[in-house]
Amino acid sequence: MKYKLPRPVVSPTIHEILQREMRKQRLTFHPLSSKEVKGLQEIVRIIEKKGLPPYLACENLPHHLGKGIFLKPDARPLPKGHVIGSYAGETSLIRQTLPDDGSYAFTPVLDLHLTREEQQIFDHETIYRPQRLYAYKIDAIKSGNFTRYINHSEKPNVIAELVSIPNNRSGLTPALVEVVYFCKKVIHPGEQLLISYEAGEKCYWNSKVKPFAMTPTTFQL
Ligand SMILES: C[S@@+](CC[C@H](N)C(=O)[O-])C[C@H]1O[C@@H](n2cnc3c(N)ncnc32)[C@H](O)[C@@H]1O
Repeated sequence: MKYKLPRPVVSPTIHEILQREMRKQRLTFHPLSSKEVKGLQEIVRIIEKKGLPPYLACENLPHHLGKGIFLKPDARPLPKGHVIGSYAGETSLIRQTLPDDGSYAFTPVLDLHLTREEQQIFDHETIYRPQRLYAYKIDAIKSGNFTRYINHSEKPNVIAELVSIPNNRSGLTPALVEVVYFCKKVIHPGEQLLISYEAGEKCYWNSKVKPFAMTPTTFQL
């Protein structure tokens, strides 16, 4: 597996901006429970070593769908609520009005105001506008982990939650916000892991590009 970034890496500058702006917006995300923290830490170790958990397979699909992630036929079922992994990628602050080119991206925090100096860092090609809004983006186009291969379905068995990672004894670095994938229902051996890209905003697919309708059992291993 080429993609082995266990979690998004947030620079101290982005962390500071998120902390300040989230405080202004009174925005907090539900913290992972200690059991979930342990689960995520286990996945992080596996990704660092091997890239892909041993019970999952990354396979090519027909119909130009690229790759997809499956639970191996000889694996145990994954229970509802099981932590699948953190959606990792390059982190940045982008102008909120930029056209969305992010087929591998999440923007979990919106409406950020940046100071003149911060706009210089993240958006040096435009002149300073104090009211301009920015979004925090996690983009897995160039770096990420196996979660970037989880395809879309309107009948998903995976769900993305925006959570925070609290201080913990598992050795997992705390985070203000992270996109964590969980099992939405029991995932049975051989099934494909699928998520709805439009669970939040209904804007991933446009009128020209329609998703291929698949369920977890359409392409069983
Ligand atoms: C996050 S990636 C998923 C992994 C992708 N299959 C790959 O091999 O890189 C998202 C892209 O996968 C494809 N994709 C995922 N689900 C799809 C679906 N239900 N129908 C058509 N294309 C899909 C689209 O090209 C989409 O932009």
